[in-house]
Amino acid sequence: MKSLFVTILAAFMLMSCAQQQEEEETEVINEGPKTELATAVVHATEGNSIEGVVTFTQTEEGVRVQAEISGLGSESLHGFHIHEYGDCRAADGTSAGGHFNPEGMDHGAPTDDNRHIGDLGNLPSNEDGVATVDFVDPMLSLSGENSIVGYGVIVHADEDDLITQPTGAAGPRLGCGVIGVANPDM
Ligand code: CU
Ligand code: ZN
Repeated sequence: MKSLFVTILAAFMLMSCAQQQEEEETEVINEGPKTELATAVVHATEGNSIEGVVTFTQTEEGVRVQAEISGLGSESLHGFHIHEYGDCRAADGTSAGGHFNPEGMDHGAPTDDNRHIGDLGNLPSNEDGVATVDFVDPMLSLSGENSIVGYGVIVHADEDDLITQPTGAAGPRLGCGVIGVANPDM
C-alpha cells in the first residue's frame, strides 16, 4: 500500500515538472511583438513643422511601406530612414541614434545589397511640400531577429546621397516617429 502511494506521488511530481517545462519553452519562443501591420506617427522636431504617418505591412515579398508626410519644402528630396532607437525624446531627434543596422553593413541605397536595413532612400515632395510613397522593401521585416517594430523613423532636411558613410549626408532631422504595433481597425 505504501509503495503504491509513493508511485502515485512520483507520477504527480513528474507531471507537474513536465508542465513547468512547457511553460518555460513558451516563454522562450515569445520574442517581442508579433504583428502584420505597424505604424509610426512622425512628429516635427523643434523648429520644424512636418507631420505625417508611415505604415508598414508585412507581405510575402517584404514589407510594404506607405508614407504621407506634409510640411516639407516643395519639390525636394528628404532622407528617409529607420533608426536604431525608437526614441524621439531629443528636441532635434538625435536620440533616435544612427541608422538601423543590425547586420553591420555600410550605408547605401534601398536597391543595394550592402546597405543598412534602415536605408529607405529619399522621400520626394511635390510642389505643396507633401511626399507620398508606396513601395515594398525586401529587407524589412515585422518579425524575427531584424524586426523593425520598436525602432525609429526619421525624415531629414536634405537629400540622402546614398553614398556618404554612415549617414548619406542627409542633414538635420525634421521629424521623428516610433514604429509600433498598429490597430488594424484604424
Ligand atoms: Cu536618418
Ligand atoms: Zn544608412
